[in-house]
Amino acid sequence: MAYNLLKGKKGLIFGALNEMSIAWKVAERAHEEGAEFVLTNTALAARMGSTEELARVTNSLFIPADATSVPDLENLVEKTMEHFGGKIDFILHAIGMSPNVRKKFPYDNLDYNNFLKTLDISALSFHKILQVAKKYDAINEWGSVVALSYIAAQRTLFEYNDMAEAKAALESIARSFGYIYGREKHIRINTVSQSPTLTTAGKGVKGIDALIDFTERMSPLGNATALECANYCITLFSDLTRKVTMQNLFNDGGFSSMGMSFRAMEMYNKSLDCNECHKDLNDEIKEK
Ligand SMILES: NC(=O)c1ccc[n+]([C@@H]2O[C@H](COP(=O)([O-])OP(=O)(O)OC[C@H]3O[C@@H](n4cnc5c(N)ncnc54)[C@H](O)[C@@H]3O)[C@@H](O)[C@H]2O)c1
Repeated sequence: MAYNLLKGKKGLIFGALNEMSIAWKVAERAHEEGAEFVLTNTALAARMGSTEELARVTNSLFIPADATSVPDLENLVEKTMEHFGGKIDFILHAIGMSPNVRKKFPYDNLDYNNFLKTLDISALSFHKILQVAKKYDAINEWGSVVALSYIAAQRTLFEYNDMAEAKAALESIARSFGYIYGREKHIRINTVSQSPTLTTAGKGVKGIDALIDFTERMSPLGNATALECANYCITLFSDLTRKVTMQNLFNDGGFSSMGMSFRAMEMYNKSLDCNECHKDLNDEIKEK
């Protein structure tokens, strides 16, 4: 259902690779809600994925840019402003990649060049986008910027590797720049911390299927899908959330506040050699 929440708004969306991408769903929902936007991704991603097809469907312009390159970002912001004949109202940063994860370097044997690339692609790119946008005064007053994060910024999750540091930096950049942008331009900056989701980046996380099953069992509302993440981003781009800034907002069905759930306990006990556990649980199951 569409509510015209973004009618008249203009935006810039990073990170739509294919139809599984969270940014893809954000673009589709933003289009339905009346926004116009420019889509961007690396030239290589555009060749491998289907970003340009999404641009056709949503009647938007695709401009390639490597988000680690300041000259690329300057060109992107300039062309975007030229295209719209003025400023934009929202930006989505949905960019993440770790060469260490990709090349299977474990956390205690990291390649440091890869580590720097992880930080550059997944976190510093956010700073670069915000710095370039500020230099060009590209965002309207009361605009909104959202980057996608993950709970590994706060808690240790097996095999999330150096992406944990990248997400911690990403969330910190949202706060530090959120202060400056808020103070000077009434623009808000937040991160949305999303449930594990089966996307191209998500599939790169070792054991993603087990992780998704675990968080599903732990979360009272279940995992948030890519579409549910997109819906949340739309509210953050809309005028309904004007005073929300410098926050890391969990869109995770309640997972981040849980310690242990009945459904996870049930699974855990199945793997234990513990007759008492099974007995207790069986009794409880009978009661439910
Ligand atoms: N999938 C999950 O489980 C999950 C959970 C929480 C947060 N997130 C975050 O959501 C965001 C989007 O990821 P996704 O899951 O939709 O996967 P995805 O693979 O569809 O998107 C990642 C995007 O990053 C882009 N990218 C990589 N390097 C880039 C560069 N140098 N310049 C510009 N773009 C570049 C890729 O081309 C791709 O479009 C990421 O920040 C990811 O960490 C994902």
